[in-house]
Amino acid sequence: MSAKKGREITISVLKFNPRSKISKPHFVDYKLEETPGMTLFIALNIIRETLDPDLSFDFVCRAGICGSCGMVVNGKPALACRTLITNYPSGKLQLMPMPAFELIKDLSVNTGKWMDAMSKRVESWIHTQKETDIEKIEQKVEPELAEETFELDRCIECGVCVASCATALMRPDFVGPVGLNRIARFEIDPHDDRTTEDYYELVGDDSGIFGCMSLLACQDHCPKHLPLQSKIAYLRRKLVSLR
Ligand code: SF4
Ligand code: FES
Repeated sequence: MSAKKGREITISVLKFNPRSKISKPHFVDYKLEETPGMTLFIALNIIRETLDPDLSFDFVCRAGICGSCGMVVNGKPALACRTLITNYPSGKLQLMPMPAFELIKDLSVNTGKWMDAMSKRVESWIHTQKETDIEKIEQKVEPELAEETFELDRCIECGVCVASCATALMRPDFVGPVGLNRIARFEIDPHDDRTTEDYYELVGDDSGIFGCMSLLACQDHCPKHLPLQSKIAYLRRKLVSLR
């Protein structure tokens, strides 16, 4: 008995190599058979293995952990490895690279460069004058605070929130939802001695907390479901008092 054939799907990819003098942005359609539980990540690998070895896209973990497979799927930024083909009843998917990041080729963008600049901008490390004595027991933290910090630390730096954000697309110096989330993470961490004034110095302008237009797309698309809007609102309430 022959196995039941899956439906035919069409994946249309915007291909472009900015380093080539002859390359021009153009869509290429790939037709393939859907298999049970197929993710976009699996489909792209089949395309690269059987139809187009030149197709570029990024992945590492295949499990929504490394944050490298972000792309725009039918107009919405998402992780390829967490996108199920079955959720697209038309069987047609159009893929584009995430905007706001440097394009490497096709669907591959340099989120690492952007995230590195953001981390430096928000000084993404614990600031304290206290000496650490490794002989001593660690400083205790209230469980609720530890949990809140851990919740925000789940960010995988995928860049999906940045690609979803109208402000980030309009102004390249915007620190993005991911940057504001990072500030919120250190602000609630009792190990960090920075004051509200210190955070105001870092993000108290339109390229920081006052650039957010509260359109909510960052939270809608964040694959880790981080509470971006409530944390941005919390930060804004704190910093606006210093204006
Ligand atoms: S906040 Fe969410 S969408 Fe933004 S980089 Fe982190 S995990 Fe990705
Ligand atoms: S491959 Fe790691 S998040 Fe998708």
